[in-house]
Amino acid sequence: MAFVIAVAQRKGGAGKSTLAANLATAFAGLGERVALLDTDPQKTLGHWHAARAKAGSRATVLDFDTPSGWRVPGACDKLRRSHDLILLDTPPHDDTDARIAIRAADLVLVPLQPSPADLWATGATLDLAKAEKRPVAVALNRVPAQGKLASEVAAALRGNGLTLLDPMLGNRSGFAQAFALGLGVTEAAPRSVAAEEVRALAAALKGFRRR
Ligand SMILES: Nc1ncnc2c1ncn2[C@@H]1O[C@H](COP(=O)(O)OP(=O)(O)OP(=O)(O)O)[C@@H](O)[C@H]1O
Ligand SMILES: [Mg+2]
Repeated sequence: MAFVIAVAQRKGGAGKSTLAANLATAFAGLGERVALLDTDPQKTLGHWHAARAKAGSRATVLDFDTPSGWRVPGACDKLRRSHDLILLDTPPHDDTDARIAIRAADLVLVPLQPSPADLWATGATLDLAKAEKRPVAVALNRVPAQGKLASEVAAALRGNGLTLLDPMLGNRSGFAQAFALGLGVTEAAPRSVAAEEVRALAAALKGFRRR
């Protein structure tokens, strides 16, 4: 039975689509049967997947679909038996569709850029997950190479009893470069620091999955 992860964060541009695509491809690269569902009407991952068709042998096999919000539970039910992992990319701002995805998920993965504004905006997503009784894991994304912001935000999260994943993603141009090719960084640049970070995040997420 597939484990379902909804990547959710009301704040726009936090890195939901980047995380969803990079984790999907990293897990697929490990031989897992992965389905990636883009539930965001912006269809960011739809564009990514269209580019992927031209990526050749670097693109590992994964199933992809773009179900609209209300179709998400049915789509997950259909895929659960045939897949190990289902990743849901969700829209910003739209609490109704985000709620449906969160309800269908076993875990809510919340990307968070380490800034006070992003931290404050995260409360709405955390409330949604709480209302749906779904566990949450926060992943810091676009962490700058220098400065104390990441450790301050991490301390604030942990102080609030939230689960913060130890691996974090730096602010790296490789993510956009791979994305433009329809690839994840583990496919486009497997030896890059970005790829190492994504593999570490994937390994940390394995700990949440059912035995
Ligand atoms: N770790 C990173 N390093 C550098 N750039 C990043 C990183 N993560 C995301 N980005 C960039 O930030 C922008 C927003 O990322 P992305 O589209 O994944 O966010 P999103 O949360 O899905 O946005 P939306 O809310 O609009 O759906 C993109 O240009 C992406 O390339
Ligand atoms: Mg997005």
